Amino acid sequence: MERRKLTVASFRKMKANHEKIVMVTAYDAPGAGIAAASGVDMLLVGDSLAMTALGYENTLPLTLDESLHHAKAVRRGAPQAFIVGDMPFLSYQLDVNEAVRNAGRYIKEAACDAVKLEGGAEIVPLVEKLVRTGIPVMAHVGLMPQHIQTAGGYRVAGRTEDEAARLLAEVKAFEQAGAFAVVLECIPAAVAEAITSQVNIPTIGIGAGAGTDGQVQVCNDLLGLFDRFVPRHAKKYCNLHDIMLKAFQEYVQDVKEQKFPTQENSF
Ligand code: KIV
Repeated sequence: MERRKLTVASFRKMKANHEKIVMVTAYDAPGAGIAAASGVDMLLVGDSLAMTALGYENTLPLTLDESLHHAKAVRRGAPQAFIVGDMPFLSYQLDVNEAVRNAGRYIKEAACDAVKLEGGAEIVPLVEKLVRTGIPVMAHVGLMPQHIQTAGGYRVAGRTEDEAARLLAEVKAFEQAGAFAVVLECIPAAVAEAITSQVNIPTIGIGAGAGTDGQVQVCNDLLGLFDRFVPRHAKKYCNLHDIMLKAFQEYVQDVKEQKFPTQENSF
């Protein structure tokens, strides 16, 4: 039976009912279709796309058009899914009207259900404006990959009392501004749990422990689709890198040894 379409209201209800929310990134139509069929609740066309699929060193070079191109593919692959488009660096920080126009492209052109923005107090007015305009917003605090240059790298956030208090204040401000959910990335589990218990919007954690309302993972991490490091916050459910490598190697060998194509593969 096809799953009913989830909405922002569904996620609030899931939090109230203590039902965990599962989110995973998707970057193309086949991946989105398979993820949606697995029963995940939300797909994120993350700006991690820059690194996972486009070969950039970090998320900063990703353009709005590149992100939208992939968001459209994800929608085609998962017509019923709740899809969040992750706005790239400098597509929403410069000017409020430009940010609303750019966010609107995820809704109008890629048929996304919401957008995600990284940032703290400085983007609260923008979140309010987007929500008033009719664009659902997922906020993203803690480790923010779009801020690695100023943070000095990928660092766990909220380790000190001051930082933890600032994170809580930011999440409360986003709730007040109308955000429907917030991603908590790489913050101590106890801090994430405390924040989760003090707001009514769902918290979606990555590297934030088990006390958040949901979890998000980068699909390449959980599929083992890389040969570099496994981030501490990820669990590798299979080793797609090795499976693909082996398949390509067998294909190469078959062609070299003239075992492929056979009569069966020919016309
Ligand atoms: O871009 C992304 O994949 C993300 C998740 C890590 C939350 O922002």
